[in-house]
Order: sequence, then structure tokens, then C-alpha cells
Amino acid sequence: MARLLDPSNPSHLAEAVDALAAGRLVAFPTETVYGLGADAGNDAAVAGIYAAKGRPADHPLIVHVPNAAAALALVSALPPMARKLMDAFWPGPVTVIVPRREGLATAAAGGQATIGLRCPAHPVAHQLLEACARRGLVGLAAPSANLFGRISPTTAQHVAHEFGDDVLVLDGGPCQVGIESTIIDCSREHPVLLRPGTLPRARLEAVLGEPLRERDEAAPRASGTLAAHYAPRAKLRLMDARTLQSALDVLGDARPPVAVYSRTVRVPRGLVHRRMPDDAERAAHELFAVLRELDAQGVSLIWVETPPDAPEWDGVRDRLVRAAAA
Ligand code: TXA
Ligand code: MG
Repeated sequence: MARLLDPSNPSHLAEAVDALAAGRLVAFPTETVYGLGADAGNDAAVAGIYAAKGRPADHPLIVHVPNAAAALALVSALPPMARKLMDAFWPGPVTVIVPRREGLATAAAGGQATIGLRCPAHPVAHQLLEACARRGLVGLAAPSANLFGRISPTTAQHVAHEFGDDVLVLDGGPCQVGIESTIIDCSREHPVLLRPGTLPRARLEAVLGEPLRERDEAAPRASGTLAAHYAPRAKLRLMDARTLQSALDVLGDARPPVAVYSRTVRVPRGLVHRRMPDDAERAAHELFAVLRELDAQGVSLIWVETPPDAPEWDGVRDRLVRAAAA
């Protein structure tokens, strides 16, 4: 199991910075999910992330920076749409894909001509990134700190269980947002939404001054956008309220190894059940922790009620649809 560090202890924070500067991996909290970080300027360190996660090496990583100035150092030319998003939402849960400055963070970018950049809002992430910048690191490459295809971690304990002792974990408590950042490709003529997060589409479009396009075949590869991702061990099935209610009614007195995560249906007593919050932000906050918790009950099926068909639920619905496709 990985070792936990206390970020309020200066010697622990220094240990994290030393480890990163030496090319080792350190997981750290962000406001969305925990990231598995490495020096973005050190290709061997970045290779360690791919190895630890079991992730294909051509899937690019997001590089985390302490501020917009640090981002500019990694960019060949900043598209105005990226600048608008950075001004409006940084620090915060938005990742911009922009043209990469040649020769920098090549491994982190998975060899693409573009780079994904994000300035996280979590105070511990910020402290860590500032301290790393003072040590001369260009930024921290960090995917979500989970094994490839599995559920993203929202607590330090989730991370610690996933990796061996050579990974250090800064424990910043539970992540506030709970699902990963919104990713917008700003490297083409028009902005393309690669992955929804919790920021409402209307707010993004108001800042951009134009509608977001949908991803198409020309869009870059992104593992967070694969049809099957975020999978618990148990098989997850997403059902509308009526279908789920009928499935539950059919059970009668039988108690199969099923867990239910729902908002509106009547769940028979004796089944493992968690109620989904009515509020999309609260649902996002707890989603991955609930899936892990239900999975840990040893059930073989998780039945989930489809979230409301409203734009603020896009991020949660996206993660559930992909967990169900696994
Ligand atoms: O909230 C988040 O974004 C979290 C925290 C740790 O910051 N990070 C995260 O990283 O979710 P990851 O690697 O699990 O997902 C990042 C996604 C991947 O699907 C990756 O392929 C895509 O971003 N991505 C990164 N750089 C890209 C690029 N240059 N072009 C296209 N997609 C890119
Ligand atoms: Mg991920």
C-alpha cells in the first residue's frame, strides 16, 4: 500500500517535492479527483505513470501548472478561446488542449502536437505546484490516480489501496467536485467538448462566445472518453425509473447480490441501497466513492437509476454511461 503524507506538515510536503524532483511519483489531491503526479519535464518519470497505471503510452496526460504564466511556457501559441477559458475558470476544473511548444513535455503529451493544461483550485495542489515550480519543474503530469479503466479516486485512501509503496500520497481529504475536469480542445478552429465535467455547458459557451462542438473522428484520443471506462468490478446497469422499478418488483422476496443507487424508485428492504442526491453537484461529489462502496459489498450487479435529463447532470450521466459500457 502507498504511503500517506500530511500536507500540513512542512517536512512531508518537502518530501513530496524532493520525490518529484528525483523523478518519483506522488499522488496529490485536486478539487476534482486525486492525480498521480510526475515531473512533466522528465520523460522517465512520466513513463513511471504509464507503468503504474497500466495505461497505453499514447494516451496523453494533463499537465498541471500553478498559474497561467507557467502554462504559457509549455504552449507554442495560445488560442484566444483557451485564454478566455483560463481567465474565467482558472484555478478550477477546466482543462484546455492547446498547441504544445516543441521539445517540451513530449512524453507527458503522449507524443501529440498538443498538450492538455490545467490549473487546479485545491490548496494542497496549489502549494505543491508552487513548490515544484520553485525547484524548476515545468509542471506535474497527472492522470487520475487509479488503475487504467477503473474508478477515479476521490480520497487518499482510494489511491493508497490502488498502488504499491513506491507511490507517496498527499492526503488532502475528500475531493470537493468528485468527477474529473471538463476538457475542451482549443487546438482547432472551434472549441470541442472532449469530456463534460460539472461546469454547465451554458456557462462555458457564454465565456467562449460560441457553441461547443461535439467530438468527432478527428478529435484526439482520450482514455477518459473511451466508451468503456470508470468501471467497478460489479457489472453496472443504468436503467430509467420505470425499467428499474419493474426489475425490482420482479425480485419479490428474492435477495440477489444486487446493489441499487437510485433517486425515485421503491427499493425492497434487504437490498444494498444508496439514495442518489437530487442535486447534480452533490451527486458528482459522491459518485465515485459510492460506486466503490457498493462494489466493496461484494455484489455482482449495481443497478443505477438514470440521472435527470438536464444539462447540469451531463458529467454524472457521462461517467455512468461509460461505467455501464464496461
Ligand atoms: O480532473 C482531472 O482532469 C483529473 C485531475 C487529476 O486533474 N485528471 C484526469 O486525468 O482526469 P486523466 O488522464 O485521467 O484524464 C485526462 C484526459 C484523458 O482522457 C487524456 O487522454 C486527455 O485528458 N488528454 C490529455 N492531454 C490531451 C491532449 N493533448 N489531447 C487530447 N486529449 C488529451
Ligand atoms: Mg482517468
